[in-house]
Amino acid sequence: MKAALVTGASSGIGEATALLLARRGFDLGLGYRSDADGAKRVAAEVEAAGRRAVLFRLDHADPAAAAAAVDEAAENLGGVDAFVNNAGINHRAEFLDETLDDWRRMLDVDLTGPFACAQAAARRMVARGRGGRIVNVSSVHDEIPIWGGSAYCAAKGGFTMLTKVMALELARHGITVNAVSPGETATPMNGVPVGTDAGDLPRPSIPVGRPARAREVAALIAYLLEPDAAYLTGQSLTIDGGLMLMGAIPNQKDGGGLQ
Ligand SMILES: NC(=O)c1ccc[n+]([C@@H]2O[C@H](COP(=O)([O-])OP(=O)(O)OC[C@H]3O[C@@H](n4cnc5c(N)ncnc54)[C@H](OP(=O)(O)O)[C@@H]3O)[C@@H](O)[C@H]2O)c1
Repeated sequence: MKAALVTGASSGIGEATALLLARRGFDLGLGYRSDADGAKRVAAEVEAAGRRAVLFRLDHADPAAAAAAVDEAAENLGGVDAFVNNAGINHRAEFLDETLDDWRRMLDVDLTGPFACAQAAARRMVARGRGGRIVNVSSVHDEIPIWGGSAYCAAKGGFTMLTKVMALELARHGITVNAVSPGETATPMNGVPVGTDAGDLPRPSIPVGRPARAREVAALIAYLLEPDAAYLTGQSLTIDGGLMLMGAIPNQKDGGGLQ
């Protein structure tokens, strides 16, 4: 029996990942913050696929409490083989206008909370002695700047570097740690209504010409949980439709729809 915890499982990339993992035989711990209905809907689909679903509420804004929620969910699930550290937010403010409160909130939600949650999951994996997999959902903006993204880019850049240190230190416990770094993905984070296909969102500045579908990002995450991915660790795997090939991103000040 395999068990995975996915944070931010009530929508978007986390939802798509949870559903794919259920189809691949994982029992699921489904983390959410405010969207209990969304989390229950995902749980029902996991159960329809014949797997267990355990819901847990967490808020990265309180990292210690979030880590405790991850630990309790792992207990309820009978252990954790894989942790998908996905929950996060985006916030834009020009550097000169950014407030300390928003900066701190962004760093808590997109870096300190994920750090504490991953630590809780990894401690469980180490104690059980059966290895494990951790996937940190970062962003192309761990590497390339975006206008108004001082806090987001700092958080995601830190998250990807944290990934490498975790991989270095946890390899001896049989735990791989990788970051998946998407470009723009058609999810509620970008205001894309549920049910909209990414193919209907033209993006001339992206070589593939559209944002990612959440299930395409989920497929990469799920690969990292497969037995044959055991030798892949400490990497940041970019999935961006070729965006990074473009060098400078046009129209950044106007947003550009990029995450
Ligand atoms: N969409 C993109 O273009 C894109 C690109 C690169 C990277 N990413 C990253 O992908 C991850 C998932 O984003 P998404 O696009 O799937 O967005 P989404 O559909 O908005 O999902 C975000 C998830 O995170 C949860 N969440 C938000 N704030 C939280 C908090 N303080 N504590 C705990 N959970 C919280 C939400 O829970 P509730 O709804 O229940 O509150 C939701 O389940 C994020 O880390 C994001 O930075 C997204």
